[in-house]
Amino acid sequence: MLWSRGAPRGVRGENPTIREGSAMTEHGDKIWKNGEIVDWKVAGSTSLLTHTLHYGVGAFEGIRAYRRGDGNTSIFRLQDHIVRLAESCHLVMMKPRVTVEQIVDGCLQVLRENSMSEGYLRPLVTIGAGAMGVYAPNNPIETYIIAWKWGAYLGAEALDRGIRCKVSSFSRHHINVAFAKGKLVGQYINSVMAKQEAKLDGFDEAILTDVNGYVSEGSGENVFIVKKGVLTTPPLSASILAGITRETIITLAREEGLTVKEEYITRDELYLADEVFLTGTAAEVTPVVEVDHRVIGTGQRGEVTRRLQARYFDIVKGKDDSHPEWLTRV
Ligand SMILES: Cc1ncc(COP(=O)(O)O)c(C=O)c1O
Repeated sequence: MLWSRGAPRGVRGENPTIREGSAMTEHGDKIWKNGEIVDWKVAGSTSLLTHTLHYGVGAFEGIRAYRRGDGNTSIFRLQDHIVRLAESCHLVMMKPRVTVEQIVDGCLQVLRENSMSEGYLRPLVTIGAGAMGVYAPNNPIETYIIAWKWGAYLGAEALDRGIRCKVSSFSRHHINVAFAKGKLVGQYINSVMAKQEAKLDGFDEAILTDVNGYVSEGSGENVFIVKKGVLTTPPLSASILAGITRETIITLAREEGLTVKEEYITRDELYLADEVFLTGTAAEVTPVVEVDHRVIGTGQRGEVTRRLQARYFDIVKGKDDSHPEWLTRV
């Protein structure tokens, strides 16, 4: 019997202008493991009996470091990301052997040791090797921090020209099935399936609804709509990750005098919005110009999206110093 049933039929192919996912990741040679800088080879010798590899209980974060105009480097909202990592661990009762402060410090060390002035940091907490049953309370908890180079997640043009999304046939996890507030390894099967389906159907990204049909989030991003100048994003009680970029954008929008509502959004409200955009550490602030073949607004990045995107990039790159509390100098 064949493992693969061949190429899927009816694939319209990838949008040739926006490619992602094919290149090998360029990672730093030094990683951080349980409080120490070690060589990449150490990770290569990680046991195949790592519990997380089999059953998916693990937690991670995604954090960006930006090179500033003055030549220095800052990590954006580092402390907030590591606090969320601790919360993800709490949800699944994993107790890392290191403290939040040590992980925060570890992120700085990994960038310095790899001489990276810009990049993406991936703290990862796993249940290590030991017992192989589903219940393995005594296996060691391992904490790693990896760094790699990552440009615009959805392609450089996506930030200006916007992307095309598909409302996924996959629903976001019901809140009693998984922990929406946790950034947990195994839960990402849902994101991978939705993203894969969207790409194979010729779109750039998936937008998932919850089991009741309300708009939830992208495969790795939160969703905002703009209608008559008012922003709406699903509330934290929805099946969404409490995105740090989401919270950043809510703060910036209110500072700009805009009204932001945290309310459930229906699929038709998404289609009828003047503007739609996605937020996330990887995707930053990405305009959505089409959903399920419906053009959104003018079919181009909207004015509200452009303003908030500009403000976001000015802050993360140190050109706008209105939120020094969000930036940690490397
Ligand atoms: C499912 C999901 N939703 C939303 C987000 C956006 O979160 P943040 O802005 O904290 O990166 C992410 C990315 O981490 C994600 O994976």
